[in-house]
Amino acid sequence: MQHKFEFEYEELADITLLSIEDKELLEAAQKATQNAYAPYSNFLVGAAARLSNNSIAIGANQESASFPVGVCAERALLNSVGSQFPDLSITTMAISYQPIGKDANEPISPCGMCRQSLLDFENRYGAPIKIILSGMKGRVMVLKTASHLLPFGFDGAILK
Ligand code: THU
Repeated sequence: MQHKFEFEYEELADITLLSIEDKELLEAAQKATQNAYAPYSNFLVGAAARLSNNSIAIGANQESASFPVGVCAERALLNSVGSQFPDLSITTMAISYQPIGKDANEPISPCGMCRQSLLDFENRYGAPIKIILSGMKGRVMVLKTASHLLPFGFDGAILK
């Protein structure tokens, strides 16, 4: 039998078309790029999460002199939220970036490891995480759930 995986996402011409809450969140992600420690790639990534109590938490990539030890903005944020606020789920995450000396007009999308971490978080709290992707300007993509980014992702339920 043949199967097909497809998902829908929304594309907006720019940040002004988001709701007030989501615009605030994307702006927080854009600002969080300034907290990145990225002396090796010069690629500053910022992420912001809206938590279930409506507060906002931020994360930024933190690189290491031993390159593989570095952590992406998304996982820095997820690990921080999971550690500090284990009773709160994440309703929405916005991700942006600023490469030093270059424009950021196009959205970026999380790496494979971060997709797994996002999926783990969704499964842990049983709640979808809406994903907002955009650069510092230009179009914005909105996905209903992080799980759309990782078809056939590994679900830890099988370990129980
Ligand atoms: N990076 C992120 O923080 N998030 C992404 O979605 C993609 C990549 C970081 C890792 C590294 O510090 C730099 O960007 C270049 O890959």
